[in-house]
Amino acid sequence: MERVGVVGCGQMGAGIAEVCARAGLDVVVVESTEAAVDAGRRRLEASLNRAESKGKIPDAAEVLRRLRVTGNLDELADRTLVIEAIVEDEAVKAELFGQLDKIVSAPDAILASNTSSIPIMKIATATGRPAQVLGVHFFNPVPVLPLVELVPSLLTADETVIRAENFVREVLGKHAIRCQDRAGFVVNALLVPFILAAIRMFESGFATREDIDEGMVRGAAHPQGPLALADLIGLDVTQSVAQSLYEEFKEPTYAPPPLLSRMVDAGLLGRKSGRGFYTYA
Ligand code: NAI
Repeated sequence: MERVGVVGCGQMGAGIAEVCARAGLDVVVVESTEAAVDAGRRRLEASLNRAESKGKIPDAAEVLRRLRVTGNLDELADRTLVIEAIVEDEAVKAELFGQLDKIVSAPDAILASNTSSIPIMKIATATGRPAQVLGVHFFNPVPVLPLVELVPSLLTADETVIRAENFVREVLGKHAIRCQDRAGFVVNALLVPFILAAIRMFESGFATREDIDEGMVRGAAHPQGPLALADLIGLDVTQSVAQSLYEEFKEPTYAPPPLLSRMVDAGLLGRKSGRGFYTYA
């Protein structure tokens, strides 16, 4: 059984910690400030209480007892698998991986990143053990979506990928797919250009937002249309993934359309800000 550590207890880190604890593992979660430790703990409690009230878990308190949220990175020393889910910033992640390399003592411990767009190689080379670094990319909301993308860099050992895959499949009960260390991995590389095409369609006046979304829901059996989906993901997140894809491949299909950039500048970020392509109460 892996001894799991998670760094970052925001939207993704909390979800990853929760699924690990729900799978029966003891999890140490590290946040950056005391206020963030408290917020992270509240986030975990709220999510687990919701899961209990919906009948998805029998006892939220029992799962919470396996989750220790702390501000002290040194508490990760005895972990065999650490999953990083902090801010999407290459320099900040590289610095953290350098620290983890010094702190995590098991010589075969796996250091994983949940990054959506930063090359795994940049993170791996910040450590002295790149063979044990890989991308383990979960989807939001983590307790609900079954997919995890496993992303080895050119230096990741096969054994690391096999161990991570066993963990995702056997321990977490999730579905793992593998791909190379390229911006967007599989899902965002396919999904983001589709969303950008819908935004360009709306921006040009070709069709209304409702008709674009209904077209894909009723004509292609998508659970929601691309503009509603962009609002759910967050327009800032959509823009930053598009920028990473564009930077990597230099193909116009990945370039953020002007409307998306203006909406982000205006603070119209989708559901989380109350307004994006649609307005939310
Ligand atoms: P978030 O902003 O909700 O959470 C980030 C957390 O990391 C914050 O609570 C912050 O206090 C903490 N943090 C920042 N620096 C830290 C440090 N040095 N040590 C400890 N904690 C630190 O962000 P979110 O959405 O959870 O994203 C986290 C990562 O997951 C990013 O790399 C993002 O690209 C990736 N991701 C995000 C998805 C999404 O839908 N939001 C989906 C899949 C991956």
